[in-house]
Amino acid sequence: MSEDLELNGRRALVTGGTQGIGEAVVARLREAGVKVFTTARKAPKEFPDANSFVAADVSTVKGCAIVADAVRDRLGGADIIVHVVGGSSAPAGGFAVLDDREWSRALDLNLLSAVRLDRALLPAMLAQGSGVIVHITSIQSQLPLPDATIAYAAAKAALSNYSKGLSKEVSPKGIRVVRVSPGWVETEAAVRLVTELAKNTGTDYEGARQGLMKSLGGIPIGRPAKPKEVADLVAFLASPRAASITGTEYVIDGGTVPTV
Ligand SMILES: NC(=O)c1ccc[n+]([C@@H]2O[C@H](COP(=O)([O-])OP(=O)(O)OC[C@H]3O[C@@H](n4cnc5c(N)ncnc54)[C@H](OP(=O)(O)O)[C@@H]3O)[C@@H](O)[C@H]2O)c1
Repeated sequence: MSEDLELNGRRALVTGGTQGIGEAVVARLREAGVKVFTTARKAPKEFPDANSFVAADVSTVKGCAIVADAVRDRLGGADIIVHVVGGSSAPAGGFAVLDDREWSRALDLNLLSAVRLDRALLPAMLAQGSGVIVHITSIQSQLPLPDATIAYAAAKAALSNYSKGLSKEVSPKGIRVVRVSPGWVETEAAVRLVTELAKNTGTDYEGARQGLMKSLGGIPIGRPAKPKEVADLVAFLASPRAASITGTEYVIDGGTVPTV
C-alpha cells in the first residue's frame, strides 16, 4: 500500500505488538509515520526503542493500568488504539474441562483487556473529539469451533458486541470504533503449530497445513491470510481515509465463513 494514509504523526497504542498480527500492525503503522507504543508480557530481544514498549499482562486490572499510565506518560495519549491481544491456551476436552478459571482467562484476555483499556484511554480521546479504536475479533465469533476454543469464541463474540455498542455511544462524539475479524492467519506461532502437527501426524508441512484448512471447512483462496494483509487492513481503517467507517466489522478470512 504505497498511497499516503494521512497517518503521519498520529499516536497509537497496539496491544500484543511483539509477535504475529500485532507485530505486523506495529510495523505497518510505523511505516505510515505513526508514533507507536506497544505492549506484551515480554519485550522481544531486539526491540528498536525501549521507550515505546511496556511489559504488562493486560489480562489483569493492574496490567491494563500500567499500559494506560505508560501511554499517557510516554505518548501523551492515543489517537489510535488497536486491540490485538487475544488468544487461547485452553486444554482440549470439550465443555467439561473448561472450568471457571479457563472461562475467566478467556474473558479477561479477549474481552476485558479491551474494555479496561478503552475505559482508561477513551476520556482523553473524547476530550480531543477524535480517535479510532480497532478491536481484533475472530471469525470464531460467528463460526465457533468445538472442543478447546468455545470460551475463546464466546469471548470474541462478546468483544464484537461490546465494540458495536461502544461505537453507537462514541461515534457521534468523533471516535470511530471498528472490528477486524481474521480467519486463520499464518503467524510464526501458526507455523510452529503446523510444523508440530506435521511431525505428530507423519506428514509434511503442506500436508498438515491442508489438514488444518480442511478442519476449518476449507479456505476458498487456498491459503491462510498473512499478518501483513491484516495489518494493511487495520492501517486503512485507522486512517482518515476510512472516515465514514464506524460500527462495522471487516472479515479477512480468504472466504472461510460460508454464509452471507
Ligand atoms: N492467528 C490467527 O489465526 C488468528 C485468527 C483469528 C483471530 N486472531 C486474533 O488476532 C489476535 C492476534 O493473534 P496472533 O495469532 O497474531 O497472536 P500471537 O502471535 O500469539 O501474539 C500474541 C501477542 O500478544 C502478546 N500477549 C499474549 N498474552 C498477553 C497478555 N496476557 N498480556 C499482554 N500481552 C500478551 C504476546 O506477547 P507475550 O507472549 O510476550 O505476552 C504477543 O505479542 C488475537 O486477538 C487473536 O485472537 C488470530
